[in-house]
Amino acid sequence: MSIEIVADAPAVATRAADIICASVRANPRAVLGLPTGGTPIAAYTEIARRVAAGDADLSRATVFAVDEFASATAATPGTNADFFRRFVTFPLGALHCPDPAAADPDAHIRAFAAQLRAAGGCDLCVLGIGENGHVAFNEPGSARDSRARAVALTETSRQAHAANFGAIDRVPARGMTLGIADLAESRSLLVLAHGAHKAAIVRAAIDGPATPEVPASLLRDHPHLTWLLDRAAAADLAVSG
Ligand code: PGA
Repeated sequence: MSIEIVADAPAVATRAADIICASVRANPRAVLGLPTGGTPIAAYTEIARRVAAGDADLSRATVFAVDEFASATAATPGTNADFFRRFVTFPLGALHCPDPAAADPDAHIRAFAAQLRAAGGCDLCVLGIGENGHVAFNEPGSARDSRARAVALTETSRQAHAANFGAIDRVPARGMTLGIADLAESRSLLVLAHGAHKAAIVRAAIDGPATPEVPASLLRDHPHLTWLLDRAAAADLAVSG
């Protein structure tokens, strides 16, 4: 596992854009797993800027979302489908998002994971970390060998999305996610975090025991895992001095 600590949130965005663009430069047909949430937005904005300037080209890359809400429609503001429409504005070869309106979310996300495998799996999967340690919608209690499935969302996760949906009671109670084992099959993983509110969980995920209670901690044996943190999110780490 490598840990890269940069000054602040804008520096996380710049470095994340560097890493994502480098992956696509090395392989223009790269398959990327990309997250939603507040964390990656500035990185996507930076990639869009580079694309507009002619400095990056993702038009042959394939993107898979790593999770989605269930029991909503793709037009519902706050869904991940809506997020990708709003923030991933640069041309892609293909964008695959689970359908939040799927009648059988469990079967739907299993088929989605099979589609990812058929595309060759992720060359690079980018993730955020929730304040409860979740990665994608693998909430605390998720097993290391968990696979794509429908899940009940925790109050913490629903609260984190309340503003996007307009109110907590509009946030769906269920979601769909690639499992920990699916994420770990990516050839490389990049976990992003910025802000002091992430410091405690980043410490637990990196310095604490590997445990399903902190799902991000289960990724640490991956041979190509990079944590990209700002100083505030890294503040509680042993390595941050
Ligand atoms: P955030 O969410 O980027 O909005 O902090 C991270 C996550 O819940 O995965």
